[in-house]
Amino acid sequence: MFRFTYSVVLSILASVAGCASSGRPPAASVPPPPVRSGQTLDAQHGVVVSVCRIASTVGANVLRDGGNAVDAAVATAFALAVTWPEAGNIGGGGFMMVGEPSRVGQPAVHFIDYRETGPAEVKADTFAGKPTSHQLAGTPGTVRGLFTAHQTYGTKRFAWKDLVLPAAKIAEEGFVVDAALAASLNSGLARSEAFPEFRRVYGKVDGSAWKAGDRLTLPDLAATLHAIAERGPGEFYEGETASRIVAEMQSGGGLISAGDLKNYRARLREPIVGTFKGYTIFAPPPPSSGGIALLQMLNMFETLDLRADQRWSASTVHTIVEAMRRAFADRARYLGDPDYGTVPVAELVSKDHARQLASTIDPLKATSSEQVAPWAQLSETGGQTTHFSVVDVNGLAVSNTYTLEQSFGGKVVVRRAGFLLNNELGDFNPRPGQTNRNGQIGTPPNLAAGGKRPLSSMTPVIIARNGKIVLVTGSPGGRTIINTVTQVVVNRLAFGMSLRQAVDAPRLHHQWLPDGIRVERSLAEQHLQTLEGLKAMGHAIDATMPSRQGDAHSIEIDPATGRLTGVADKRIGGSAAGY
Ligand code: GLY
Repeated sequence: MFRFTYSVVLSILASVAGCASSGRPPAASVPPPPVRSGQTLDAQHGVVVSVCRIASTVGANVLRDGGNAVDAAVATAFALAVTWPEAGNIGGGGFMMVGEPSRVGQPAVHFIDYRETGPAEVKADTFAGKPTSHQLAGTPGTVRGLFTAHQTYGTKRFAWKDLVLPAAKIAEEGFVVDAALAASLNSGLARSEAFPEFRRVYGKVDGSAWKAGDRLTLPDLAATLHAIAERGPGEFYEGETASRIVAEMQSGGGLISAGDLKNYRARLREPIVGTFKGYTIFAPPPPSSGGIALLQMLNMFETLDLRADQRWSASTVHTIVEAMRRAFADRARYLGDPDYGTVPVAELVSKDHARQLASTIDPLKATSSEQVAPWAQLSETGGQTTHFSVVDVNGLAVSNTYTLEQSFGGKVVVRRAGFLLNNELGDFNPRPGQTNRNGQIGTPPNLAAGGKRPLSSMTPVIIARNGKIVLVTGSPGGRTIINTVTQVVVNRLAFGMSLRQAVDAPRLHHQWLPDGIRVERSLAEQHLQTLEGLKAMGHAIDATMPSRQGDAHSIEIDPATGRLTGVADKRIGGSAAGY
């Protein structure tokens, strides 16, 4: 059955902001679900929250037309590959958590690992010099991962192509650029002289800056998506698209071979499960570092008993930062691809380990990071990614984070295929054994190897209470992802904020080393006294103060009524769509 008829696709195009210029009215019989940008949307039947209004609308239309949350997630992910090119992708990878409600006991939560892999040629020291963007491209996992999701958990009411074609149509017919995308494109195009294909595809013909209201059309990407829609993932991994990736690699000195593409597999893994104040947390296992670090911090917070009325006191923030410091030290020491070494997951997320870590926190004074773990130092975080959350009418939940690593990956667009490749292999530790104060780590678990997945910070989570799924969240932001998700979760579950408040609240980041706290500018503006108190305790406050940390598109489910609250993070341009 082909659910997405041409007129339905046109209704998507016409229903999104500014897209009235498509010139065709929406089909009267299929009113688009309401959309709220940067706001909260209450819905009874289903909701999609992503960084982009168009993509949320595509997903919500699938829900409205009888698809489940996984069908909607697949369509949303393909749409984001068109409409949010800095991180939405088919040339990257990611993690998807799928939570199935159960009548008895805990929900069944599944984890699809579609992280990129190192091409077979990769060795531990391959990235020790100055690797190029082409060399840093890992074998992409997104298309295989989304297909696995569709085949394993989709309704089958929607054929694969029905979920890919809306994205293909948007790319083909063009769409109206909003302010967030204009800013993103202009930022990516700055310093892109070395990437002429990127400039050709994503630059304006007259070379001027993008502005809201402009139209972006992506014909090469449209053709690739049409081919993937018709021929399935085989097109990407063994077909004409695979040949174009290999040709791109050969012309740019990259490493991905036809064999790497053919051999790529998504992995189904068991999520990590922990508890926090009566909630059950389902979090991603390695090669994500996020699940372990999140549970370690929540376990420490239980021991340390955060006070709900003291959220912004220097003492509370100090406790949160000290937990971050310790979790990130363990991350550097122990975590990597579990298929290439043993990761002591159970020990790391045990309540005993958290008690031991928490017992080293001085309530009045910052611990030095070298004292916590004197053996290594981490580089500064970087990278962009995007997260979206979906819940359908039956309570099936999807928490999906996927990425090209940095914004627009390494700015390599595969010629004649129109999509961006990731530069994910920069997430491996680059120089074996070389750990120094300048921000480099060389510990063994995350050294590069052929077929291996680089350690990730992506942390899509699903949270249940009394067996019912109540919260879905996640975020982009490199290593800050882990701390963003942790803060949303504790704001909601420990400090009693509404989900809206929990997402809006100012954020901070400490990653063990460099030994300093990076705060959002709004935190400095709203809680200056807190920062003064932290400095008095011996904390260094990083002067950079970014305007935003993360972008946590989240959904809460009222366990009594089943009512859904979609909370679009305001920090970029997020939108909740549902009905
Ligand atoms: N590329 C960001 C991450 O995987 O952590």
